[in-house]
Amino acid sequence: MINRRKFILGTAFTSLFAYFGITYAKARKSLNPLVGAKKAFPIVISTWNHGLAANEAAWEIINGGGKAIDAVEAGVRIPEGDPKINSVGFGGYPDRDGKVTLDACIMDENGNCGSVSFLQNIKHPISVARMVMDETPHVMLSGAGALKFALDNGFKEEVLLTEKAKRAWENWLKTSKYAPIINQENHDTIGLLAIDKNGDISGACTTSGLSWKLHGRVGDSPIIGAGMYVDNDIGGAVATGMGEAVLKTLGTFLVVELMRNGSSPQAACEEAVKRIAAKQNAKDFQVGYAAINKSGNHGAYCIHKGFNYALHQNYKNVLVDSNYLMKD
Ligand code: GLY
Repeated sequence: MINRRKFILGTAFTSLFAYFGITYAKARKSLNPLVGAKKAFPIVISTWNHGLAANEAAWEIINGGGKAIDAVEAGVRIPEGDPKINSVGFGGYPDRDGKVTLDACIMDENGNCGSVSFLQNIKHPISVARMVMDETPHVMLSGAGALKFALDNGFKEEVLLTEKAKRAWENWLKTSKYAPIINQENHDTIGLLAIDKNGDISGACTTSGLSWKLHGRVGDSPIIGAGMYVDNDIGGAVATGMGEAVLKTLGTFLVVELMRNGSSPQAACEEAVKRIAAKQNAKDFQVGYAAINKSGNHGAYCIHKGFNYALHQNYKNVLVDSNYLMKD
């Protein structure tokens, strides 16, 4: 009899314990969807074809045990320095006055960030942005002030307008028709996100902006929360495409907030694209987002066919076509 009572009591306690255990686990998971998620990092993800080479440079640092913030800077410096790439740094297409003007931002796992906008004649704006973050009490420097800061800190002034870019601009001047082309030459801004072996997330974004833009125009890329955003508790996101559309919705901040509220990176990117299409005439422009969460899961989405991203995970670096909203 005593044994039977002990057995019943024991079973009841075990069931109660299991019930509260499962309920507690469920509650924790609903508060933070990443609790218990399988880890899929280190990871590097970046926008467009030129992301492949950028990812390699970032991966080398992460794989050697380096920090994500160093990896994202090193990664995007590759397309910045490549004159064949028309949308970033050296070789970037100029504005309608023939000037190459650059925007960039960077953000680390502690929420520190730095940014430069409307910067001319400096090949690696991302490293100036990093210096703004590391060496000043500010987040953003612009135009002549950003250039002075760069020169005062050892950066070299260089001509960034290549012969090829100059010819393209002179050709454009013949009509001076301003109609940004979707997926122009299949590459645009580079945004790059990384999670290092410690699980820390950082991001970087750099661009020469829209070709033939008005002199002085600044896009989404240097704006924290528009072109790029990172929250080390949640994940990060980068944007590419028509900066004005991203600015109007603070797109990457939105993606990260959607993930905070339980969305997967994929679902968050899709919702952020739909928000643009709901309020803006997205028929004639492209926007693409790529995102990662704290576990290293990733997602991407865009308005029109043609956006791709480079993914370095599990020791493989591959190009992936993004799914898109407007099928016709
Ligand atoms: N997304 C780059 C720009 O619009 O300037």
